[in-house]
Amino acid sequence: MIGMIAAIGKNRELGKDGKLIWNLPEDLSFFKQITMGKIIIMGKKTFNSLPKLLPGRKHVILSANNGFNKDVSTSTVFCDKDRLLSYLKKIAKEDDVYIIGGASMYAMFIDICDFMYLTEVDAEDKSADVYFPEFNKDEWKLNVLGKFRNGDISYTHVKYTKKD
Ligand SMILES: NC(=O)c1ccc[n+]([C@@H]2O[C@H](COP(=O)([O-])OP(=O)(O)OC[C@H]3O[C@@H](n4cnc5c(N)ncnc54)[C@H](OP(=O)(O)O)[C@@H]3O)[C@@H](O)[C@H]2O)c1
Repeated sequence: MIGMIAAIGKNRELGKDGKLIWNLPEDLSFFKQITMGKIIIMGKKTFNSLPKLLPGRKHVILSANNGFNKDVSTSTVFCDKDRLLSYLKKIAKEDDVYIIGGASMYAMFIDICDFMYLTEVDAEDKSADVYFPEFNKDEWKLNVLGKFRNGDISYTHVKYTKKD
């Protein structure tokens, strides 16, 4: 199955200046728990935004250019969306794979993904420069997994599963 995982604000804000907007340590632990041992798929800007390679996960990167800021020798790089799509469909028959961002990747793959883990942050940031795509909630079954608070910021982990 193909999954996506993202943290989004009230207006589906994803990031600004190449970085995340909110610093939510518990949410990063949730991300780690969900993705551990899995293949994670990302665009080059998201790869470059990682402080380091994420242990225990195989990194797959989409990029048509060079310019990686860390070693990609243990990762797989696709320079073509359609080749990545074929690979995704093949490996997703064997195990769950996760699209972890950024905005360009979520937009590209939301129509073919089976489920999404979203951290819905109850805050907004007008200076965001990338957004999660709009989607029709009627087409997805919603499970609320838990509500959390970090200082002034509350947020909810939810799972959306595509209806048949
Ligand atoms: N809130 C969250 O959960 C979350 C998660 C992840 C990321 N983010 C944020 O999202 C932002 C990054 O998102 P983004 O959309 O700007 O960048 P991105 O999706 O991470 O990466 C974009 C890059 O991917 C490559 N790419 C995309 N489509 C391609 C295609 N069809 N063919 C070949 N290569 C392609 C290109 O690399 P080349 O230029 O090398 O060709 C492109 O510059 C950052 O602010 C990050 O912090 C937020």
